Parts: sequence; C-alpha cells; structure tokens
Amino acid sequence: MTGNITLTMIKPLAFRNNSSGNILSRITNAGFWIVAAKTMQLSIPQAQKFYEVHKDRPFYKNLVESMTSGPIVVAMLEKENAIEDYRTLIGKTNPAEAAEGTIRRDFGTDIEANAVHGSDSDENANIECDFFFPKSERFHRPG
Ligand code: CMP
Repeated sequence: MTGNITLTMIKPLAFRNNSSGNILSRITNAGFWIVAAKTMQLSIPQAQKFYEVHKDRPFYKNLVESMTSGPIVVAMLEKENAIEDYRTLIGKTNPAEAAEGTIRRDFGTDIEANAVHGSDSDENANIECDFFFPKSERFHRPG
C-alpha cells in the first residue's frame, strides 16, 4: 500500500493533441481527486532538475527537450494507494507495452511522448509535488 498523493504531468504532445481534458476525465473517473493543477511550460533548467535522477541516462537530453517543447498540465492527485493505482491506470512506460485501456496505451505515441508522467514512490511524490505546488495552492478532498 502506497500513500495517498502522486504527481502527474500531461506531456507536451498530449497537450498539443488537445487530450488534456480526456486524460483528466480518466483520472477523476478512476477515483482520484485533483488537489492542484495548472498549465505551464517547463524551462530547460526546471526539466533538468525534475528529471535529475535520469541525468546519466542516454535518453536524458531528448527527454528534457521533449518536456520543454510546449505546455504541459501538471496535477497533484489524491487517492488511497495513489502511486500504485495511478501507475496501473497509466500503464507501462512504453505505450507499446502498456495494457489496453491504459492512458499511455491510448494517448501515448512512444516511450518519450508517453502522454503522462506519474511519480514512482511516496518519497518522489512528495518531492515532485513540492516542486510545483506550495501548500497554499493545494485543496484536498473535502470530508
Ligand atoms: P516519465 O514517467 O516521465 O519518467 C521518465 C521518463 O523518461 C519516462 O516517463 C519516459 O518518457 C522517459 N524514458 C524512460 N525510459 C526511456 C528510454 N529507455 N528511452 C527513452 N525515454 C525513456
């Protein structure tokens, strides 16, 4: 069982395809609450910092380029067992390997333009949510 928050980014290609609304609807239909959300364009230093854990990987440069190529929608999500449930909803990193009906399978085109990001651990979810949203911009599920 993981904690109850995760961070997602709807990546530039999915934003350009006007899929943000459909993706957010999948997310809320799956029981996630949107604690915070905004549309923005990452700067190169922001993308480099966000993906710093991958800085020695061969795909790092292209990843930073594609993530800064246009606007994204970034959202903090809340649900019991958020990390695991969100990773199930989005599917495997490579859309070609993601299960049918998952967000990456339906909206992604390749491993880089894989439609959405999702946090991979509770620790990273906290770091990633702090990266984008001060506490004053978070509105948790009522009740
Ligand atoms: P994301 O969930 O945003 O986290 C890191 C990203 O790096 C990942 O989605 C992919 O878009 C990208 N990525 C991971 N592995 C590879 C790979 N082998 N080749 C290219 N891009 C990758």
